[in-house]
Amino acid sequence: MLIQIADVLTPDVVAALRESLAGEAAGFSPGKATAGWAARDVKNNEQASGPAAQAAIEQVKAAILGNALFQSAARPKTFVKLLVSRYKPGMAYGTHVDDALMGGVRTDMSFTLFLAEPESYEGGALVIESPDGESDFKLLPGHLVLYQTTSLHHVAEVTKGERLAIVGWVRSFIRSPEQREVLFEMDQVIAKLREAQAPREDMNHALKVRNSLLRMWAED
Ligand code: NI
Repeated sequence: MLIQIADVLTPDVVAALRESLAGEAAGFSPGKATAGWAARDVKNNEQASGPAAQAAIEQVKAAILGNALFQSAARPKTFVKLLVSRYKPGMAYGTHVDDALMGGVRTDMSFTLFLAEPESYEGGALVIESPDGESDFKLLPGHLVLYQTTSLHHVAEVTKGERLAIVGWVRSFIRSPEQREVLFEMDQVIAKLREAQAPREDMNHALKVRNSLLRMWAED
């Protein structure tokens, strides 16, 4: 499943994060250091690990966990890793696939939360590759794209301005992408039933099916 989620952060929060990450306390350094050997030769960006970056990551984690659509699409058990990433002109991240295990924890879904205004930089799209073709994402600040960690992807070269984003990996309660999608669809059905003020009995059956599937499939 590949899904865009709007307004994970409010414009005020985005503005504050951009300001705090522009200062020295962000602590940016070359991103190659955290790349596995297969990605090292294609990775050319910067990552931040200073106190401002850590604070930004904690704030973003809380916002993402509070987002109902993210919860439904990812069923996150835990965040495996989050990184503040920045691309300046000439920087790009060539085609690669992310590690299946990070620090001994399986990665199921990846996300990119955009922080810069799309008009403020040129290039820098996240391009997700699939047998059906490529999908480009260059979203508004505060919006994110969530996708399978199994996907080949790249970040197009930034030719002007600065691309600032927070990227992360989630370990899901549900290992199988197909099962995650069925549960996501069931959540949609339940939401529609609620909206339509469906009879309690119908709602109970839908909830019973969703919860039973969750119980069968979840790795807690
Ligand atoms: Ni990647």
